[in-house]
Amino acid sequence: MQIHVYKNAEEVCDALAAWITDLIDKTHLVKEKFTWALSGGETPKKLYQKLSSSPYKEKIKWDRIHFFWGDERVVPFDDERNNAKMAYDILLSKINIPSEHIHKIRTDIKPAEAAKQYEKTLHQYLDDKKFTFDLTLLGMGEDGHTLSLFPGSSILNDQLSWVNAVHSKEKGERITLMPSLVNRSSTVVFLVTGEKKGLVLTEVLGGKEQKYPAQLIQPSNKELHWFIDKEAAKYLTDNN
Ligand code: 6PG
Repeated sequence: MQIHVYKNAEEVCDALAAWITDLIDKTHLVKEKFTWALSGGETPKKLYQKLSSSPYKEKIKWDRIHFFWGDERVVPFDDERNNAKMAYDILLSKINIPSEHIHKIRTDIKPAEAAKQYEKTLHQYLDDKKFTFDLTLLGMGEDGHTLSLFPGSSILNDQLSWVNAVHSKEKGERITLMPSLVNRSSTVVFLVTGEKKGLVLTEVLGGKEQKYPAQLIQPSNKELHWFIDKEAAKYLTDNN
């Protein structure tokens, strides 16, 4: 596990855009397709903006990338809260990528059915591979949730499913990838900024107890990277 700390959100996203581009290039040297599970929420918007602009817009071989999502809010695609819409508006509609390389989670059918269908799609792309995704990008909430894995949620003990539908009183209907799948990624990156997440971050990184869903993310190959800003790192000590 590595922690990468930068002055502010702008610099974190600058550094992460370059770091991801490097990872994509290295992966393309050894395989045709790069598979990437995107994160939703506010924090990755700045990163997606940078990747949809020069030099990354021209430099990255987008037509050799397949995009998936870590989780989705069960709202129509044209709803501002929809994670796929956010990524489309800021990144995917601005780059040269074949539409069949973009694998959205359906929100126009029952969540349980959508979860089943997405798991089927994932098996088509990820089965018999040493790793699942080449990159999984994650965020973390102030309550220590990640993806749509919320504290106290009944699905947290599900060690087998790749995808689950979940209902949260606060966050509504969601469809989420599960740690069993994410932990087999080749590389996992958490992008976390802002002081509000500082205290929970110290517990997630240093806590002895398994209290937070974000602590369930333990890639089997240990390729776990935290890209954070000074605000989020505020309470971290050398022990973390
Ligand atoms: C989502 C995300 C979720 C997000 C955290 C952090 O759909 O909301 O996948 O897990 O990463 O809630 O969200 P912010 O970046 O908005 O703080």
